[in-house]
Amino acid sequence: MSLEAIMETVLVIGATGNIGVAAVTAALRSKRNVLAVVRNQSSADKLVKHIGSSEGITFVEANVLSDSGVKSVVDQVQAGKLPAFQHVFSSVGGEYTTTPLPEISTEQLRRNFNISFEANFFAYRDTIRYLLEKKNPISTWTICTGSQGDVATHAVPAMTQGALFPFTKAAARENESTNIRFNEIYLSFRVEVDTDAVQHDVTKASDFGNVYEMILANPEVRSSRVRVDDVDDLKKLKYEKKF
Ligand SMILES: NC(=O)c1ccc[n+]([C@@H]2O[C@H](COP(=O)([O-])OP(=O)(O)OC[C@H]3O[C@@H](n4cnc5c(N)ncnc54)[C@H](OP(=O)(O)O)[C@@H]3O)[C@@H](O)[C@H]2O)c1
Repeated sequence: MSLEAIMETVLVIGATGNIGVAAVTAALRSKRNVLAVVRNQSSADKLVKHIGSSEGITFVEANVLSDSGVKSVVDQVQAGKLPAFQHVFSSVGGEYTTTPLPEISTEQLRRNFNISFEANFFAYRDTIRYLLEKKNPISTWTICTGSQGDVATHAVPAMTQGALFPFTKAAARENESTNIRFNEIYLSFRVEVDTDAVQHDVTKASDFGNVYEMILANPEVRSSRVRVDDVDDLKKLKYEKKF
């Protein structure tokens, strides 16, 4: 069997962000390839800088905020122009701002729901059928949400994260008996790309990547919320069924 036939590929949406870099790191560390969706060349360059190399990464440009962006990527995969993928990781995210509710403009509200909710929803809707059709029993679909959705100290990200919770529960239900292990990582502390994390004394993306590696490696983790409440949770998965 050729190496290409046995190498798995993770499609990462939001690949250039703090959490996306963690997912790319995890995929590469576990000997998988990455198909990274980026908005432009400078975002692709940023990802290479954070990872330290482009080896194992295929880049594709798409507007993930549009309801045809991820679909265009899947169309190219199906046409054989991009590598087939077996896993999806999605972490498109908007502003981490403390703007109080009365000061949130309609434009700011809609922009953030577009980036932090719709983009992740489109990512799911437009990849899941492909994974179902492939019937590969190793497939996974993973999203990162945040505890802001519950604690709500930052109203804008709190509202968009809160909207993701029922979406992830519905997806967990719909995939309970499919070939796809759908899971949500619920993160309660700050993670940043390694260089920023050192400066700001927060957790490094490369350390947070352990969580995704453990999910990929453990077929028991299915339709679950994986809680990452403190740094001990970076070493041992804490998970429970979402319903
Ligand atoms: N970091 C944390 O500690 C943490 C904690 C809990 C939950 N989360 C959740 O995880 C998700 C990602 O967080 P993050 O810290 O990784 O965010 P981030 O560093 O800001 O990254 C966001 C990602 O979304 C993309 N993106 C943002 N605006 C875009 C736009 N207008 N068009 C195209 N792409 C756009 C970015 O692309 P570019 O690189 O091209 O800008 C990047 O890939 C969020 O939902 C967040 O709430 C994060």
